Amino acid sequence: MYTPDCKLENSTDDFPYTSWERVYREHTPYELPWDSSEPHPLLAALFENHRAKPGSRALDLGCGTGASSRLLADSGYDVDAWDVSATAIERARVLSMDYSGKIRFVQGNVITQAFTCNHTYDLILDFLFLHHVQDGDIERYFRGVRKSLREGGRYVVGVFVQTGETEKRASLFSDGEVRYWTSQGIQQCLHNHFQISLASYGKAGSMEQNYPFGLFEFIIKPCP
Ligand SMILES: C[S@@+](CC[C@H](N)C(=O)[O-])C[C@H]1O[C@@H](n2cnc3c(N)ncnc32)[C@H](O)[C@@H]1O
Repeated sequence: MYTPDCKLENSTDDFPYTSWERVYREHTPYELPWDSSEPHPLLAALFENHRAKPGSRALDLGCGTGASSRLLADSGYDVDAWDVSATAIERARVLSMDYSGKIRFVQGNVITQAFTCNHTYDLILDFLFLHHVQDGDIERYFRGVRKSLREGGRYVVGVFVQTGETEKRASLFSDGEVRYWTSQGIQQCLHNHFQISLASYGKAGSMEQNYPFGLFEFIIKPCP
């Protein structure tokens, strides 16, 4: 089991994120629309010809049962993977037994805990997590991502998108709200936080027809 080499902050503002534990407990493995033994094909395609340099580190935020974490490990990264749900993390550990020493699964709240360790990464993956970050936490979240990326690091984000206006809806699963971003909205919001030297925007995908998302990739420049 991964023991973080720093003290985690005790969080006082974990709701509604804590409701994710109920979501996993109430569903059998692979019953939830995003939960799969395989990484999403669009993400797999992004990493298909990518081999990380030895010693490269990746952070998988809201990792669920770890399909994307295993993809990153297969691409050569040493992975830290976080999820707030203890059940999801338990399932991820079982499914990733062959990855011992390559992936460290951590149960904790990304918003309040993941960035307090001062670890830095070559790649941060946020696959279908950002749209669950509640409005009051978005600034704090992007600051954390920025602080944790090494110079020239990649931030890859798969997020619910739609055309028209950014819209919030009650989550179908957890107690929180889901933000459906527009492609322009996410670009604008990220440019407020990052100096981006390379970006590829808006490859469209879906989990099912009802859940369209965009896959965005950003190479972050050092702060001026
Ligand atoms: C839609 S799922 C995506 C899971 C995974 N990335 C995948 O693609 O299979 C969102 C995940 O974010 C996790 N999550 C939500 N809020 C969180 C938080 N504040 N900290 C850590 N994990 C969180 C949930 O438990 C859930 O596993």
